[in-house]
Amino acid sequence: SASDPALVERARRAKAALGDRVFVLGHHYQRDEVIQFADVTGDSFKLAREAAARPDAEYIVFCGVHFMAESADILTGDSQRVVLPDLAAGCSMADMATFDQVEECWEALEDAGIAGVTVPVTYMNSSADIKAFCGRNGGVVCTSSNAKRALDWAFSRGEKVLFLPDQHLGRNTAVLEMGLSLDECVVYNPHRPNGGLTAEQLENAKMILWKGHCSVHGRFTPECVDDVRERIPGVNVLVHPECRHEVVTKADHVGSTEYIIKKLEEAPAGSSWAVGTELNLVKRLGQMFPDKNVTFLDRTVCYCSTMNRIDLPHLVWALESLAAGQVVNQITVDEDTTHWAKVALERMLALP
Ligand code: 13P
Ligand code: SF4
Repeated sequence: SASDPALVERARRAKAALGDRVFVLGHHYQRDEVIQFADVTGDSFKLAREAAARPDAEYIVFCGVHFMAESADILTGDSQRVVLPDLAAGCSMADMATFDQVEECWEALEDAGIAGVTVPVTYMNSSADIKAFCGRNGGVVCTSSNAKRALDWAFSRGEKVLFLPDQHLGRNTAVLEMGLSLDECVVYNPHRPNGGLTAEQLENAKMILWKGHCSVHGRFTPECVDDVRERIPGVNVLVHPECRHEVVTKADHVGSTEYIIKKLEEAPAGSSWAVGTELNLVKRLGQMFPDKNVTFLDRTVCYCSTMNRIDLPHLVWALESLAAGQVVNQITVDEDTTHWAKVALERMLALP
């Protein structure tokens, strides 16, 4: 996409002035105008590892959303500062599980006598205090690229899993990768007493799925898949596991953003792909692989509005401020939360 040449030049200069003192991380859903300045791009898992592996950079500028910057702050040293160029870059899915709601849910599981056999697993897309909750209660963090390994780990420690906050990633992984039945998954609704579940339902469930979802991936429907198969014969349908179960079961391949890119890299020239994930990435895939036919799975436009809040003017402002010795938009997680969230994140990083 076209970006203002004057702003491009300012970003380039500020970044050059900072040199090795700054490291810029970019999630695959970021705008092209921002991605061009990323030292590393990746999915949530890769970016968490990259943040942890940069002990020398004074500043980590995180081009992504708030929960990713929090995770970077948790995994980096005390002297390192993590900067999120726009503080309004949150995630509606992460906001669907608050700490108080999760505590209340855990109490309901305690009342039902199952908390002792339940392992909490939270998707990376959650606030630091939810990750800390999992750390304190013997649980783990997962991302879309290691959800199966995290669930294997959790089920080796308990009979049941409480999966936060994305019901779709939880259900898709449990049913399609671990062989659980749909009946073994129940949905806990934080807005209803006891999650809207009876003691018997909780007793019989193996996966207790939090009622959360991604508003971007939630827009893909099974009809989108039927429609694109009709329009493009032989098309390969490739979707993110945050899509609804009915969409994922109709697709040919499912995986994280990093997996989606790898799949396209390996695809033969001339092949056709309909990709069900955020639009900045799908458009970039089309540019990266001009010899392959890449289309968006939906007919409507679907950007992640909070990812898009990080634009070139915000990045320029963050870099120029740092170059001038002023740390802006620093993301900090308090000590106790950091301690326990780190426990859960390190369990993830240590998964086989
Ligand atoms: P991944 O990049 O880990 O697949 O995550 C997708 C996402 O929705 C991030 O917000
Ligand atoms: Fe959150 Fe979905 Fe946006 Fe990812 S794409 S940041 S899960 S709203």
